[in-house]
Amino acid sequence: HRAEPCTVVIFGATGDLTHRKLIPALYNLAAGGDLPPQAKVVGFARRDKTDEGFRAELEEANKKHSRQGHDPALWASFGASIHYHKSEFQDLEGYKSLKALLDKFDEERGVPANRLFYLASAPEFFDEIMLMLKQSGLNEGPEGKWARVVCEKPFGKDLKTARHLNQVVNDVFAEKDTYRIDHYLGKETAQNIMVLRFANVMFEPLWNSTYIDHVQITCAENLGMEGGRGGYYDTAGALRDMVQNHLFQLLSLVAMEPPSDLGADAVRDEKVKVIRSLRRYKGPEEVAKNIVRAQYTAGSVDGVERVGYRQEDRVNPESKTESYVALRLFVDTWRWQGVPFYMRVGKQLPKKATEISIHFKAPPQVPFPTLQQRGTRNVLVIRIQPDEGISLRMLSKLPGVQLLMQPVKMDFRYSTSFGKASPEAYERLLLDAMAGDATLFARRDEVENAWAFIDELENAWHKSGNPPPMCEYPAGSWGPKEADELLQADGRVWRRL
Ligand code: BG6
Repeated sequence: HRAEPCTVVIFGATGDLTHRKLIPALYNLAAGGDLPPQAKVVGFARRDKTDEGFRAELEEANKKHSRQGHDPALWASFGASIHYHKSEFQDLEGYKSLKALLDKFDEERGVPANRLFYLASAPEFFDEIMLMLKQSGLNEGPEGKWARVVCEKPFGKDLKTARHLNQVVNDVFAEKDTYRIDHYLGKETAQNIMVLRFANVMFEPLWNSTYIDHVQITCAENLGMEGGRGGYYDTAGALRDMVQNHLFQLLSLVAMEPPSDLGADAVRDEKVKVIRSLRRYKGPEEVAKNIVRAQYTAGSVDGVERVGYRQEDRVNPESKTESYVALRLFVDTWRWQGVPFYMRVGKQLPKKATEISIHFKAPPQVPFPTLQQRGTRNVLVIRIQPDEGISLRMLSKLPGVQLLMQPVKMDFRYSTSFGKASPEAYERLLLDAMAGDATLFARRDEVENAWAFIDELENAWHKSGNPPPMCEYPAGSWGPKEADELLQADGRVWRRL
């Protein structure tokens, strides 16, 4: 597949995602020789721009964001393949002229190209774009070639809107040609979870409630509402923005049963079962007991003063949206009976770090004295980012004449074991979409089942007469004290990152 020419059309091409992620990803694929030959990129958006103007601004962005630096000679050839097409999203004429442009490219090449439509616009335009793609016939590739659609998040804001969107998209493209992005699945370390579990013999026999005490998933960010993000974020919140998609995907990879093969559907069949097995909370009281929501107040992160969440640009001063959420979840399957999965995700925390930690139970009996009480259990840590790697905490004899134990760490780091930096998530995902491999994309039922679970929590907050409280944490701290209490109540603590 990768040898076939392909044209990528990006809707909403003047936005941040195109500049920061998509173009640098395509450029890096070109640098590695992985882009299909004679590939073209067309930016579709409403603003007035020339090809030259568009290329120049993307070149600046690429200098800043490309993983492998910026080579002017390579840019000269890659940049020449980028074009700009100005149109309103609801204007059928704009799609007809797009089709004419793509046909012209095909003619110039002498062979027709596959077509990848990438929806990077604001989600309120998805419906119109789909409708217009259908009316203009662009949803059918040229003779013998495919046409596919990649949908950026947010994929809906609740079950109802997600279902609607799925309906609209599937009315225009078959499910097999629909690629819903969750960029966490493109992260190298997320992909490594399955390899760790299913290609090594030593972990999987212990990977269950007999040996595992609990699991923690932390996704901390040291950013707030920079770059005008407050407008979108305040309509979403941590639960919708991160948990419904990225964190549930990580949870699925950790908790899933081994798939029968590595086909896209076999893997996603197992992942969706995890989401469907999440124990439901009954009513606002249970939600309040198991979930902590919070907003940051003024504070400082990395020595820089930050305003509180409600004072942020484009955030409602009386906002009831959470910038932090911690959850106690249970996966009601045979394997995980009684094992809590604790998750926390938040903005304006002390640092950017995403990790999964598997906390093992204590051995039945320990005949050796230890110098410390805490930190003596085995913990397997999967560092998703930064400093990608996997470490295992175990106990060792302290050198000396006395028989004393101390925890030590076995550490695998991508940077030392593999040297070069891993590809960016978007590089892998764009390539997979072109190659027709949907394994690392969210399937319709995954998205809908995740929303069904999230909706119940959102309803407890926004639709019940007795909503659980909104807690607070100063920017630059590790979250509200109520999140610590959530674990303390179970005799546990959050891992220090
Ligand atoms: C996005 C969220 O999906 O993921 C953002 O909308 C968040 O709020 C981002 O900052 C985090 O991605 P990464 O790759 O930087 O961890």
